[in-house]
Amino acid sequence: MSGLFLTLEGGDGSGKSTQSALLAAWLRERGREVVLSREPGGTELGAEIRELLLHRRAYMAPRAEALLYAADRAQNVATVVRPALEAGAVVLQDRYLDSSVAYQGAGRVLSPDEVRRLSLWASEELLPDLTILLDLDPAVGRARLDGARTRYDRLEAERQDFHERVREGYLALAAAEPARFLVLDASQPVHDIADAIRGRVATLL
Ligand code: TYD
Repeated sequence: MSGLFLTLEGGDGSGKSTQSALLAAWLRERGREVVLSREPGGTELGAEIRELLLHRRAYMAPRAEALLYAADRAQNVATVVRPALEAGAVVLQDRYLDSSVAYQGAGRVLSPDEVRRLSLWASEELLPDLTILLDLDPAVGRARLDGARTRYDRLEAERQDFHERVREGYLALAAAEPARFLVLDASQPVHDIADAIRGRVATLL
């Protein structure tokens, strides 16, 4: 059986972890081995990089930030994702290179193309088989987070217009690669979104 690389993308509060858990359970019921992973912080080295990225309050230059996400990705792809795909597993990952293009590219000041090239260099050109984009108005995502959080990380704490640019960046990526993306309205009920995801993933199994 060949491996399958699925990624979930979307703004903070868009429901990626909920959908990831539902999809993982469904795939396991179908007898597939599922490896759950995430960026940043899916490896031991990544956990240290994640701390730097999310909880260091001092100024971080945009290129330094992009390189840290890329370093986290390089380690995750080399030690978690590729070995799992080679073993025939379904890798279900919370965030991948589209996060970098949307946050460090569209959100910050870097060129989205350059950020994408950096990410592809870090991952040795690994692209997902399918990317599920949970599209949501950032104000709604923020309101969902407000219920669950007492403290925001460095990116969550960015202003509303940053998160608007991230959303637009994601939608532009999906428009540019329609075959790789499944775009879903994340304000729909959880089970409707889960059904739509299963329908598409079933075509890839
Ligand atoms: P995430 O782990 O999804 O946050 P949480 O566990 O708090 O929901 O991601 C952390 C933050 O990192 C998130 O705000 C998005 C950002 N991010 C980037 O800016 N670039 C990237 O390449 C990735 C993977 C994440």
